[in-house]
Amino acid sequence: MSTAAPFAFLVHPRSRIADDLARIWRPLGHVPEGLVDAAVRKLPLRPYAMSRVDLDHEPVGHVVLVPFGAKHLLGLPHEGRARVGQAIDHAARLGAGVVGLGALTATVTAGGATLRGRTDIGVTNGNAYTAAIVEDQLLTLLDDAPERRVAIVGATGSVGTTLVRLLARAGSVDSLLLVARGAPRLAALAAEVGGRVPTSTSTDLHDVRGCDAVVLLTASSDALLGAEHLAPGALVLDATQPRNTSPDLADARPDVTVVDGGVVSIPGMTLKGADIGLPRGQAYACFAETFLLGLAGHTGHFSIGVPTLDQVEHVRGLARRFAAHGFGAALPASFGRPLVGAR
Ligand SMILES: NC(=O)c1ccc[n+]([C@@H]2O[C@H](COP(=O)([O-])OP(=O)(O)OC[C@H]3O[C@@H](n4cnc5c(N)ncnc54)[C@H](OP(=O)(O)O)[C@@H]3O)[C@@H](O)[C@H]2O)c1
Repeated sequence: MSTAAPFAFLVHPRSRIADDLARIWRPLGHVPEGLVDAAVRKLPLRPYAMSRVDLDHEPVGHVVLVPFGAKHLLGLPHEGRARVGQAIDHAARLGAGVVGLGALTATVTAGGATLRGRTDIGVTNGNAYTAAIVEDQLLTLLDDAPERRVAIVGATGSVGTTLVRLLARAGSVDSLLLVARGAPRLAALAAEVGGRVPTSTSTDLHDVRGCDAVVLLTASSDALLGAEHLAPGALVLDATQPRNTSPDLADARPDVTVVDGGVVSIPGMTLKGADIGLPRGQAYACFAETFLLGLAGHTGHFSIGVPTLDQVEHVRGLARRFAAHGFGAALPASFGRPLVGAR
């Protein structure tokens, strides 16, 4: 690890701000949500290094909290970008060589494109490795499936586009249904990959009912995919943060399997301070990409906007290089609970 450079990873409170802030200071969990929401939105709160990341007891990085909620980032993108910028300043002051854009900090900066001009620190949205891990998880889950008609919801986003290109290149599914709200970008992506795999598009979530598996890669502060959208026995791989499925879905549709997507196992990793909502030794794939770049001593930006497939291969190579520390998909879980006998 001689070339390792410290890294930082940005997170923000998700759908229920009080619940996430209680990870830092438990009493905040008892403050009414409306009050915490208004305080976080209105007060000029500073970014906060909420935990130190250790690998085999050696410090390697920091998790930095952007004190702005998921709804705030999407609803007030100008202010959101400013808050993300302040958090990156803080990461640079902590000595990070590379910073990862967690969850909607990537969406609000156009996948990091608005940060290209920064020369003091490398930026990555972490989406090359996220797409790679989601592809690995999907193909494992579909291993013995008789049919592989796959819907990608959020197909035109940073992770979504990369995943669509990976699946089309491998020819590993029977068909693709690309779903998002914007039709022109869907049509362009379908035209690009349609020669490799039968591809259709839709702006209506109900159309995923014709698919065996649904990969959820949207950027929304609330649940989007409901029981009414899914075929009997469908598989849902949900890699969104905040989650765009609700645990109620699993209760309403016991025939459906909802799997947590984009979670990576790094057994020797510990967080000193607040946790990020995953069991010890697990990290989000975008976090893992930033971690790998830090371990490799990477300088400059990496995944910005839509990652290239070369970047996916590069980061997969880093995961192999540091495989002694884990860096593979975590065992399947559903809303954090281990899935026994997953497909
Ligand atoms: N688990 C992990 O490690 C990990 C890593 C990276 C990202 N993520 C999560 O993955 C998700 C995608 O990230 P990203 O950076 O790729 O986001 P992004 O670039 O902003 O893409 C979002 C995609 O979702 C679509 N979309 C947004 N709202 C929608 C809606 N209501 N209905 C249908 N489609 C909708 C967008 O297209 P339209 O605007 O045209 O609808 C776009 O295709 C986020 O939740 C992020 O937090 C997880």
